Amino acid sequence: MGNKTLAIIKPDAVNDNHIGEIISMINKAGFKIKALKMIRLSKDAARSFYEVHKDRPFYGELVDYMTSGPCVPIALEKENAVEDYRKLIGATDPAKAAEGTVRKLYAKSVQFNAVHGSDSDENAAREIAFFFSSKELIENYPL
Ligand code: RTP
Ligand code: MG
Repeated sequence: MGNKTLAIIKPDAVNDNHIGEIISMINKAGFKIKALKMIRLSKDAARSFYEVHKDRPFYGELVDYMTSGPCVPIALEKENAVEDYRKLIGATDPAKAAEGTVRKLYAKSVQFNAVHGSDSDENAAREIAFFFSSKELIENYPL
């Protein structure tokens, strides 16, 4: 048991065939996968998911990016999940991301930065519910 967070392998990383490496890093860091799928977001869905950024200058580009191909949302569980996952992925801008982080390894720029991570427990709950129904979340396993 622990806290939950939502990861997304974004369209650039999916397109570059990095799904496997990124999931491997997530597993090795001790996160438990509770749900996972591949999905192509509609413009409306991407706008809604990133609504918190609607007044930012990069909002339109962010929506275009997140709808440019399929992405892989993953619900994760671990003690201190939100903070530990953000540590694993590194800073938003890969130029500032620590060595060995997902973004240092796979992000191309501050915009095309390979992965998403929730920024609070409250947003994690909202974001997991955005992608997964309660039936799709595997709460307890091994059975
Ligand atoms: P995320 O929400 O995707 O996990 O990323 P984050 O918390 O590290 O960064 P945030 O400030 O929430 O920004 C959301 C996403 O918008 C794109 N972005 N582009 N062009 C720019 O200056 C810029 N700044 C941010 C990135 O894809 C970022 O992850
Ligand atoms: Mg964010």
